[in-house]
Amino acid sequence: MSTAAPRPIAFFDMKAQQALIRSEIDAGIARILDHGRFIQGPEVDAVEAALAAFSGAQHAVGVSSGTDALQIAMMAEGIGPGDAVFLPAFTYTATAEVPLVLGATPVFVDVDPASFNIDLRDLEHRLALVQREGRLRPRAVVGVDLYGLPADWPAIEALCARHGMFALDDAAQAFGGALGTRRLGTHADATALSFYPTKTLGCYGDGGAILTNDASRAELYRSLRTHGEGKTRYEVQRTGMNGRLDSIQAAILLAKLPLLEGELKSRARVAGWYEAALAGRVRTPQVPDGSTSAWGIYTVTLPDAAARARVQESMKAAGIPSAIYYPKPLHHQPAYAGAHAAGIAGGPPPLPVSERLCDQVLSLPMHPYLTEAEVGRVAAALLAGL
Ligand SMILES: Cc1ncc(COP(=O)(O)O)c(C=O)c1O
Repeated sequence: MSTAAPRPIAFFDMKAQQALIRSEIDAGIARILDHGRFIQGPEVDAVEAALAAFSGAQHAVGVSSGTDALQIAMMAEGIGPGDAVFLPAFTYTATAEVPLVLGATPVFVDVDPASFNIDLRDLEHRLALVQREGRLRPRAVVGVDLYGLPADWPAIEALCARHGMFALDDAAQAFGGALGTRRLGTHADATALSFYPTKTLGCYGDGGAILTNDASRAELYRSLRTHGEGKTRYEVQRTGMNGRLDSIQAAILLAKLPLLEGELKSRARVAGWYEAALAGRVRTPQVPDGSTSAWGIYTVTLPDAAARARVQESMKAAGIPSAIYYPKPLHHQPAYAGAHAAGIAGGPPPLPVSERLCDQVLSLPMHPYLTEAEVGRVAAALLAGL
Protein backbone atom coordinates (compact mmCIF):
# COMPACT_ATOMS: atom_id res chain seq x y z
CA MET A 1 0.00 0.00 0.00
CA SER A 2 1.39 3.40 -0.97
CA THR A 3 1.51 6.10 1.68
CA ALA A 4 3.02 8.77 -0.63
CA ALA A 5 1.31 12.17 -0.39
CA PRO A 6 -0.63 13.05 -3.56
CA ARG A 7 1.18 15.45 -5.89
CA PRO A 8 0.41 19.13 -5.29
CA ILE A 9 -2.33 20.49 -7.54
CA ALA A 10 -1.15 23.26 -9.87
CA PHE A 11 -3.48 26.12 -10.81
CA PHE A 12 -1.98 26.10 -14.33
CA ASP A 13 0.45 23.30 -15.18
CA MET A 14 3.07 24.05 -17.80
CA LYS A 15 5.52 21.39 -16.63
CA ALA A 16 3.42 18.32 -17.54
CA GLN A 17 3.03 19.64 -21.07
CA GLN A 18 6.70 20.56 -21.37
CA ALA A 19 7.74 17.03 -20.47
CA LEU A 20 5.84 15.76 -23.54
CA ILE A 21 7.51 18.09 -26.05
CA ARG A 22 10.83 19.01 -24.45
CA SER A 23 12.89 17.45 -27.25
CA GLU A 24 10.96 19.37 -29.98
CA ILE A 25 11.42 22.60 -28.03
CA ASP A 26 15.14 22.02 -27.56
CA ALA A 27 15.53 21.17 -31.26
CA GLY A 28 13.51 24.23 -32.33
CA ILE A 29 15.62 26.58 -30.23
CA ALA A 30 18.84 24.90 -31.41
CA ARG A 31 17.81 25.49 -35.05
CA ILE A 32 17.38 29.20 -34.34
CA LEU A 33 20.75 29.41 -32.58
CA ASP A 34 22.22 27.87 -35.75
CA HIS A 35 20.47 30.03 -38.37
CA GLY A 36 20.64 33.21 -36.28
CA ARG A 37 17.44 34.86 -37.55
CA PHE A 38 16.14 35.71 -34.11
CA ILE A 39 13.73 38.32 -35.48
CA GLN A 40 11.39 37.51 -38.41
CA GLY A 41 12.89 34.05 -38.80
CA PRO A 42 11.18 31.26 -40.78
CA GLU A 43 9.49 30.03 -37.58
CA VAL A 44 7.33 33.17 -37.54
CA ASP A 45 6.01 32.50 -41.06
CA ALA A 46 5.43 28.84 -40.17
CA VAL A 47 3.49 29.59 -37.00
CA GLU A 48 1.37 32.23 -38.76
CA ALA A 49 0.37 29.62 -41.36
CA ALA A 50 -0.38 27.09 -38.61
CA LEU A 51 -2.49 29.59 -36.61
CA ALA A 52 -4.50 30.50 -39.70
CA ALA A 53 -5.10 26.82 -40.46
CA PHE A 54 -6.12 26.02 -36.88
CA SER A 55 -8.52 28.96 -36.56
CA GLY A 56 -9.87 29.02 -40.09
CA ALA A 57 -8.88 32.69 -40.46
CA GLN A 58 -7.31 33.67 -43.78
CA HIS A 59 -4.52 35.70 -42.18
CA ALA A 60 -2.56 35.44 -38.94
CA VAL A 61 -0.01 38.07 -37.96
CA GLY A 62 2.34 37.25 -35.09
CA VAL A 63 2.91 40.08 -32.63
CA SER A 64 4.71 40.67 -29.35
CA SER A 65 1.79 40.17 -26.90
CA GLY A 66 -1.97 40.11 -26.61
CA THR A 67 -1.89 43.74 -25.53
CA ASP A 68 0.06 44.70 -28.65
CA ALA A 69 -2.37 42.66 -30.75
CA LEU A 70 -5.20 44.86 -29.44
CA GLN A 71 -3.12 48.01 -29.95
CA ILE A 72 -2.03 47.24 -33.51
CA ALA A 73 -5.61 46.29 -34.46
CA MET A 74 -6.91 49.60 -33.11
CA MET A 75 -4.05 51.64 -34.63
CA ALA A 76 -4.89 50.15 -38.02
CA GLU A 77 -8.40 51.62 -37.72
CA GLY A 78 -6.96 55.01 -36.79
CA ILE A 79 -8.73 54.93 -33.42
CA GLY A 80 -7.71 57.90 -31.29
CA PRO A 81 -8.89 61.08 -29.60
CA GLY A 82 -12.62 61.71 -29.87
CA ASP A 83 -13.41 58.02 -30.38
CA ALA A 84 -15.53 55.88 -28.05
CA VAL A 85 -14.47 52.25 -27.66
CA PHE A 86 -17.08 50.07 -25.95
CA LEU A 87 -15.76 47.21 -23.81
CA PRO A 88 -16.81 45.18 -20.78
CA ALA A 89 -16.13 46.53 -17.28
CA PHE A 90 -15.39 42.98 -16.12
CA THR A 91 -12.18 41.93 -17.91
CA TYR A 92 -8.40 42.13 -17.72
CA THR A 93 -6.88 45.62 -17.65
CA ALA A 94 -5.28 45.41 -21.12
CA THR A 95 -8.66 45.62 -22.87
CA ALA A 96 -9.22 49.11 -21.45
CA GLU A 97 -5.62 50.24 -21.38
CA VAL A 98 -5.15 50.14 -25.13
CA PRO A 99 -7.84 52.66 -26.18
CA LEU A 100 -6.56 55.02 -23.47
CA VAL A 101 -2.97 54.71 -24.68
CA LEU A 102 -4.24 55.69 -28.15
CA GLY A 103 -6.09 58.72 -26.75
CA ALA A 104 -9.56 57.19 -27.24
CA THR A 105 -12.20 56.92 -24.52
CA PRO A 106 -13.19 53.51 -23.15
CA VAL A 107 -16.92 53.24 -22.50
CA PHE A 108 -17.44 50.49 -19.93
CA VAL A 109 -20.37 48.16 -20.54
CA ASP A 110 -21.91 45.75 -18.02
CA VAL A 111 -21.71 41.99 -18.48
CA ASP A 112 -24.23 39.19 -18.50
CA PRO A 113 -24.14 37.29 -15.18
CA ALA A 114 -24.48 33.88 -16.87
CA SER A 115 -21.86 34.21 -19.61
CA PHE A 116 -19.61 36.85 -17.93
CA ASN A 117 -19.44 38.48 -21.38
CA ILE A 118 -20.61 41.86 -22.68
CA ASP A 119 -24.34 42.49 -22.19
CA LEU A 120 -25.83 43.42 -25.56
CA ARG A 121 -28.76 45.38 -24.12
CA ASP A 122 -26.47 47.47 -21.96
CA LEU A 123 -24.15 47.96 -24.94
CA GLU A 124 -27.02 49.29 -27.06
CA HIS A 125 -28.12 51.54 -24.21
CA ARG A 126 -24.68 53.11 -23.76
CA LEU A 127 -24.21 53.44 -27.52
CA ALA A 128 -27.49 55.39 -27.68
CA LEU A 129 -26.33 57.67 -24.85
CA VAL A 130 -23.02 58.40 -26.60
CA GLN A 131 -24.82 59.04 -29.89
CA ARG A 132 -27.37 61.35 -28.25
CA GLU A 133 -24.67 63.36 -26.59
CA GLY A 134 -22.72 63.59 -29.86
CA ARG A 135 -19.36 64.41 -28.28
CA LEU A 136 -17.57 61.09 -28.97
CA ARG A 137 -17.65 59.08 -32.21
CA PRO A 138 -18.67 55.45 -31.58
CA ARG A 139 -15.80 53.61 -33.31
CA ALA A 140 -15.33 50.12 -31.93
CA VAL A 141 -16.64 47.34 -29.71
CA VAL A 142 -14.11 45.07 -28.04
CA GLY A 143 -15.87 41.84 -27.09
CA VAL A 144 -13.92 39.66 -24.65
CA ASP A 145 -14.40 35.88 -24.58
CA LEU A 146 -13.93 35.77 -20.84
CA TYR A 147 -12.57 32.56 -19.30
CA GLY A 148 -12.66 30.97 -22.78
CA LEU A 149 -16.38 31.26 -23.56
CA PRO A 150 -17.10 33.04 -26.85
CA ALA A 151 -19.07 36.29 -26.56
CA ASP A 152 -22.28 36.68 -28.58
CA TRP A 153 -20.43 37.48 -31.82
CA PRO A 154 -23.37 37.31 -34.24
CA ALA A 155 -25.12 40.02 -32.19
CA ILE A 156 -21.97 42.15 -31.70
CA GLU A 157 -21.10 41.92 -35.39
CA ALA A 158 -24.63 42.88 -36.43
CA LEU A 159 -24.63 45.89 -34.09
CA CYS A 160 -21.20 47.00 -35.34
CA ALA A 161 -22.31 46.63 -38.97
CA ARG A 162 -25.43 48.73 -38.31
CA HIS A 163 -23.43 51.53 -36.74
CA GLY A 164 -20.23 51.40 -38.81
CA MET A 165 -18.11 50.29 -35.87
CA PHE A 166 -15.06 48.03 -35.81
CA ALA A 167 -15.68 44.66 -34.07
CA LEU A 168 -12.56 43.48 -32.25
CA ASP A 169 -12.50 40.10 -30.52
CA ASP A 170 -10.24 39.97 -27.46
CA ALA A 171 -9.80 36.19 -27.50
CA ALA A 172 -6.74 36.27 -25.22
CA GLN A 173 -8.34 33.70 -22.90
CA ALA A 174 -10.17 31.72 -25.54
CA PHE A 175 -8.01 30.40 -28.39
CA GLY A 176 -9.69 27.17 -29.51
CA GLY A 177 -13.20 28.31 -28.54
CA ALA A 178 -15.90 28.18 -31.23
CA LEU A 179 -19.39 29.29 -32.19
CA GLY A 180 -21.11 26.61 -34.21
CA THR A 181 -18.46 24.94 -36.33
CA ARG A 182 -16.30 28.08 -36.64
CA ARG A 183 -13.49 28.65 -34.20
CA LEU A 184 -12.79 32.12 -32.84
CA GLY A 185 -10.70 34.05 -35.34
CA THR A 186 -13.32 34.69 -37.99
CA HIS A 187 -16.29 36.03 -36.04
CA ALA A 188 -15.17 39.65 -35.65
CA ASP A 189 -13.33 42.02 -38.04
CA ALA A 190 -10.16 41.05 -36.20
CA THR A 191 -9.30 38.73 -33.32
CA ALA A 192 -6.51 39.34 -30.81
CA LEU A 193 -4.72 36.37 -29.24
CA SER A 194 -2.32 36.26 -26.30
CA PHE A 195 0.35 33.59 -25.95
CA TYR A 196 1.15 34.50 -22.36
CA PRO A 197 2.48 31.21 -20.88
CA THR A 198 -0.72 30.26 -19.04
CA LYS A 199 -3.08 30.72 -22.01
CA THR A 200 -4.66 27.76 -23.85
CA LEU A 201 -1.81 28.19 -26.34
CA GLY A 202 1.12 29.81 -24.56
CA CYS A 203 4.76 30.44 -25.36
CA TYR A 204 7.66 30.84 -22.90
CA GLY A 205 7.62 34.61 -22.78
CA ASP A 206 5.34 37.23 -24.27
CA GLY A 207 3.66 36.72 -27.62
CA GLY A 208 0.41 37.23 -29.46
CA ALA A 209 -1.26 37.26 -32.86
CA ILE A 210 -4.00 39.00 -34.81
CA LEU A 211 -6.34 36.91 -36.95
CA THR A 212 -8.47 38.37 -39.73
CA ASN A 213 -10.09 37.48 -43.03
CA ASP A 214 -9.33 40.95 -44.40
CA ALA A 215 -6.15 41.04 -46.52
CA SER A 216 -5.73 44.82 -46.36
CA ARG A 217 -6.01 44.81 -42.57
CA ALA A 218 -3.43 41.99 -42.35
CA GLU A 219 -1.03 43.99 -44.49
CA LEU A 220 -1.46 47.02 -42.24
CA TYR A 221 -0.83 44.87 -39.14
CA ARG A 222 2.45 43.63 -40.66
CA SER A 223 3.52 47.19 -41.34
CA LEU A 224 2.47 48.51 -37.92
CA ARG A 225 4.28 45.75 -36.01
CA THR A 226 7.51 46.77 -37.81
CA HIS A 227 7.56 50.53 -37.13
CA GLY A 228 5.12 51.30 -39.94
CA GLU A 229 7.50 49.91 -42.55
CA GLY A 230 6.50 50.28 -46.22
CA LYS A 231 7.31 47.97 -49.11
CA THR A 232 11.04 48.36 -48.52
CA ARG A 233 13.03 48.41 -45.30
CA TYR A 234 13.65 51.90 -43.86
CA GLU A 235 10.72 53.32 -45.79
CA VAL A 236 8.40 54.51 -43.03
CA GLN A 237 4.83 54.72 -44.28
CA ARG A 238 3.03 55.35 -41.00
CA THR A 239 3.65 55.61 -37.29
CA GLY A 240 3.98 52.07 -36.00
CA MET A 241 5.67 50.28 -33.15
CA ASN A 242 8.07 47.44 -32.36
CA GLY A 243 5.46 44.74 -32.00
CA ARG A 244 6.96 41.59 -33.50
CA LEU A 245 6.73 37.98 -32.35
CA ASP A 246 10.29 36.64 -32.05
CA SER A 247 11.55 33.44 -33.68
CA ILE A 248 12.17 31.52 -30.43
CA GLN A 249 8.62 32.14 -29.18
CA ALA A 250 7.32 31.08 -32.60
CA ALA A 251 9.30 27.83 -32.31
CA ILE A 252 7.78 27.14 -28.87
CA LEU A 253 4.29 27.67 -30.32
CA LEU A 254 5.07 25.34 -33.24
CA ALA A 255 6.06 22.61 -30.79
CA LYS A 256 2.90 23.12 -28.74
CA LEU A 257 0.30 23.48 -31.49
CA PRO A 258 0.06 19.75 -32.29
CA LEU A 259 -1.06 19.17 -28.68
CA LEU A 260 -3.73 21.87 -28.66
CA GLU A 261 -6.65 19.92 -30.12
CA GLY A 262 -6.24 17.16 -27.52
CA GLU A 263 -5.65 19.64 -24.72
CA LEU A 264 -8.90 21.46 -25.52
CA LYS A 265 -10.73 18.14 -25.24
CA SER A 266 -9.00 17.44 -21.92
CA ARG A 267 -9.99 20.88 -20.60
CA ALA A 268 -13.62 20.16 -21.52
CA ARG A 269 -13.38 16.82 -19.70
CA VAL A 270 -12.01 18.56 -16.58
CA ALA A 271 -14.89 21.06 -16.76
CA GLY A 272 -17.31 18.12 -16.95
CA TRP A 273 -15.82 16.59 -13.79
CA TYR A 274 -16.16 19.92 -11.98
CA GLU A 275 -19.76 20.21 -13.15
CA ALA A 276 -20.56 16.71 -11.85
CA ALA A 277 -18.96 17.45 -8.48
CA LEU A 278 -20.23 20.99 -7.91
CA ALA A 279 -23.54 21.52 -9.75
CA GLY A 280 -26.36 22.39 -7.40
CA ARG A 281 -23.93 23.47 -4.64
CA VAL A 282 -22.37 26.53 -6.32
CA ARG A 283 -23.13 28.29 -9.59
CA THR A 284 -20.96 26.57 -12.20
CA PRO A 285 -20.14 28.01 -15.64
CA GLN A 286 -22.64 27.06 -18.34
CA VAL A 287 -21.91 26.87 -22.06
CA PRO A 288 -24.84 27.88 -24.30
CA ASP A 289 -25.94 25.48 -27.05
CA GLY A 290 -23.86 26.02 -30.15
CA SER A 291 -20.88 27.47 -28.23
CA THR A 292 -17.64 25.70 -27.41
CA SER A 293 -15.60 27.08 -24.54
CA ALA A 294 -11.82 26.87 -24.67
CA TRP A 295 -11.97 26.55 -20.84
CA GLY A 296 -9.02 28.88 -20.37
CA ILE A 297 -10.10 29.52 -16.77
CA TYR A 298 -12.74 27.65 -14.71
CA THR A 299 -14.76 30.05 -12.56
CA VAL A 300 -17.58 29.41 -10.11
CA THR A 301 -19.85 32.10 -8.66
CA LEU A 302 -20.41 32.14 -4.88
CA PRO A 303 -23.18 34.00 -3.05
CA ASP A 304 -21.03 36.88 -1.75
CA ALA A 305 -17.55 38.02 -0.71
CA ALA A 306 -17.81 36.45 2.78
CA ALA A 307 -18.74 33.03 1.36
CA ARG A 308 -15.92 33.32 -1.14
CA ALA A 309 -13.40 34.17 1.58
CA ARG A 310 -14.49 31.10 3.58
CA VAL A 311 -14.16 28.85 0.55
CA GLN A 312 -10.77 30.25 -0.37
CA GLU A 313 -9.58 29.70 3.21
CA SER A 314 -10.82 26.10 3.15
CA MET A 315 -9.05 25.45 -0.15
CA LYS A 316 -5.86 27.07 1.08
CA ALA A 317 -5.90 24.88 4.21
CA ALA A 318 -6.10 21.84 1.92
CA GLY A 319 -3.14 23.14 -0.10
CA ILE A 320 -5.25 23.89 -3.17
CA PRO A 321 -4.69 27.10 -5.14
CA SER A 322 -7.50 29.38 -6.28
CA ALA A 323 -7.60 32.86 -7.82
CA ILE A 324 -9.90 35.84 -8.28
CA TYR A 325 -10.26 37.10 -11.85
CA TYR A 326 -11.04 39.95 -11.19
CA PRO A 327 -11.34 41.56 -7.77
CA LYS A 328 -12.19 45.05 -9.06
CA PRO A 329 -14.24 46.17 -12.07
CA LEU A 330 -12.27 48.34 -14.45
CA HIS A 331 -14.37 51.47 -13.89
CA HIS A 332 -13.29 51.39 -10.21
CA GLN A 333 -9.59 51.15 -11.03
CA PRO A 334 -7.79 54.38 -10.14
CA ALA A 335 -6.29 54.55 -13.62
CA TYR A 336 -9.65 54.33 -15.40
CA ALA A 337 -12.22 55.89 -13.06
CA GLY A 338 -11.68 59.38 -14.49
CA ALA A 339 -12.12 58.24 -18.09
CA HIS A 340 -15.22 56.30 -17.05
CA ALA A 341 -16.81 59.35 -15.43
CA ALA A 342 -15.96 61.52 -18.44
CA GLY A 343 -17.20 59.02 -21.05
CA ILE A 344 -20.90 59.81 -20.73
CA ALA A 345 -21.82 63.28 -19.56
CA GLY A 346 -24.30 63.48 -16.71
CA GLY A 347 -22.74 60.35 -15.28
CA PRO A 348 -22.58 56.89 -16.81
CA PRO A 349 -25.29 54.39 -15.76
CA PRO A 350 -24.24 51.94 -13.03
CA LEU A 351 -22.55 48.60 -13.77
CA PRO A 352 -24.12 46.38 -11.08
CA VAL A 353 -23.35 42.96 -12.54
CA SER A 354 -19.65 43.69 -13.02
CA GLU A 355 -19.45 45.05 -9.47
CA ARG A 356 -21.26 42.07 -7.96
CA LEU A 357 -19.23 39.47 -9.85
CA CYS A 358 -16.00 40.94 -8.50
CA ASP A 359 -17.19 39.88 -5.01
CA GLN A 360 -18.47 36.47 -6.09
CA VAL A 361 -16.16 34.83 -8.63
CA LEU A 362 -13.58 32.23 -7.73
CA SER A 363 -11.40 30.44 -10.27
CA LEU A 364 -10.28 26.86 -9.65
CA PRO A 365 -7.28 24.95 -10.98
CA MET A 366 -7.76 24.34 -14.72
CA HIS A 367 -5.32 22.70 -17.10
CA PRO A 368 -5.42 19.70 -19.44
CA TYR A 369 -3.35 17.46 -17.17
CA LEU A 370 -5.66 17.41 -14.12
CA THR A 371 -6.98 13.97 -13.17
CA GLU A 372 -10.51 13.16 -12.06
CA ALA A 373 -9.17 12.40 -8.56
CA GLU A 374 -7.51 15.83 -8.40
CA VAL A 375 -10.72 17.55 -9.48
CA GLY A 376 -12.42 15.59 -6.69
CA ARG A 377 -9.91 16.94 -4.16
CA VAL A 378 -10.47 20.52 -5.35
CA ALA A 379 -14.25 20.11 -5.20
CA ALA A 380 -14.15 18.53 -1.73
CA ALA A 381 -12.02 21.38 -0.35
CA LEU A 382 -14.36 23.95 -1.92
CA LEU A 383 -17.52 22.30 -0.62
CA ALA A 384 -16.02 21.96 2.88
CA GLY A 385 -15.79 25.76 3.01
CA LEU A 386 -19.37 26.48 1.97
C1 LIG B 1 -8.76 39.32 -21.72
C2 LIG B 1 -7.31 39.66 -21.93
N1 LIG B 1 -6.99 40.62 -22.82
C3 LIG B 1 -5.71 40.94 -23.07
C4 LIG B 1 -4.66 40.31 -22.42
C5 LIG B 1 -3.29 40.76 -22.67
O1 LIG B 1 -2.43 39.76 -23.15
P1 LIG B 1 -0.87 39.85 -22.92
O2 LIG B 1 -0.58 39.55 -21.48
O3 LIG B 1 -0.30 38.81 -23.85
O4 LIG B 1 -0.42 41.22 -23.31
C6 LIG B 1 -4.95 39.30 -21.49
C7 LIG B 1 -3.85 38.63 -20.81
O5 LIG B 1 -3.87 38.15 -19.73
C8 LIG B 1 -6.31 38.97 -21.24
O6 LIG B 1 -6.63 38.02 -20.35
